[in-house]
Amino acid sequence: MKIAICIFLVCCFSFIKNSAQNPHQHKPDKNLLKIIDQNMMDAAAQYKVLMKNLPADQFPKTYSPTTGQYEFSNSDWWCSGFYPGTLLYLYQQLKDTVLYNEAVRVLDLLKKEQFNTSTHDLGFMMYCSFGLANDIHPSLVYKEILLNSARSLSTRFNPMAGCIKSWDVKPNEFLVIIDNMMNLELLFWATKASGDSSFYKIAVAHANTTMKNHFRADNSSYHVLNYNDSTGLVQQKRTAQGFADESAWARGQAWGLYGFTETYRETKDKRYLDQATKIAAFILSHPNLPADKIAYWDFNAPGIPDALRDASAAAIMASALIELGGYVNKKLSAQYFNTAATILTNLSASKYKTAPGSNGGFILQHGVGHLPNKTEVDVPLTYADYYFVEALIRYKNAFK
Ligand code: GLY
Repeated sequence: MKIAICIFLVCCFSFIKNSAQNPHQHKPDKNLLKIIDQNMMDAAAQYKVLMKNLPADQFPKTYSPTTGQYEFSNSDWWCSGFYPGTLLYLYQQLKDTVLYNEAVRVLDLLKKEQFNTSTHDLGFMMYCSFGLANDIHPSLVYKEILLNSARSLSTRFNPMAGCIKSWDVKPNEFLVIIDNMMNLELLFWATKASGDSSFYKIAVAHANTTMKNHFRADNSSYHVLNYNDSTGLVQQKRTAQGFADESAWARGQAWGLYGFTETYRETKDKRYLDQATKIAAFILSHPNLPADKIAYWDFNAPGIPDALRDASAAAIMASALIELGGYVNKKLSAQYFNTAATILTNLSASKYKTAPGSNGGFILQHGVGHLPNKTEVDVPLTYADYYFVEALIRYKNAFK
């Protein structure tokens, strides 16, 4: 009986996760719907190019169009789940088994990360990949891998700090980044799949601590908080990937928007919905959000309007806004859907979407990974591709 209830809950969850909601029955942008169908085919063709160039035991990281050089990674890189995840999203749409078989091949390389306790990124790595694989073909093997991943992630929770540690840098620092909100989905899933509420409790504690400490009065978020893990007090608020400690790093705002939206989905606690709508208001009313809605890499980047855009932040925002649009009143919902449509239409144009056969097989160009570190600057990124494809599917599903 307990097993039957778990399966029922997991099925409900899968349905919600993969279906965007459009409760106010907005009319679709017909031009965008056509673009989406074409994008799916183009994206599949691109990933077949990427697939051919990928060393057998590696994961794609990025590609330089100027030198023609790829960067690859091992399975422990935080982005290792996005390549199989994108393949699986494309397979769901196109039923092309070449894509599915490649995803399954890569999952086999990735599965050892279920026991990795040295990173908070297990949600990205394992849920964007095995979570989706398990939605497509539920299996006890995938379930066990995901549960082990949730157990590994849970070891990083500190009850005094009330949150999950992001980075292990110095022994006297307990660093938590806004990005970490994205790893909670794995924990919510784990409670539903196992009946063990400890995962859910950790996720809610982490969301509450983040909501209390990570945000400024204008509802933008800091990137990195340094906690005292004995007292739970915040010792420092700073950035790593943003322009400045007090700036609003664009992808950080996108992670917060997406993370609180999914936390609302999983808990139905209105406080998380309010937080998500406040983040959306910060982003959408910001004077430095350009008319095409493709965010600069930091809302306070020097040199705006000539600063670099970040296609990854834009794609994450679009995907989150479509989901959030399903939970709010008609006026806000229309604003979120329209903004998402603008982002997706602009990312689909040649400025961002690469020409067939180019860009090493990546789908989008002009992502910014870590500008202060001078790494992955103005390049294709696997997570830009993943959230772009996810957002396109969510948009399309909202009008089915
Ligand atoms: N989680 C790392 C990033 O967004 O670059």
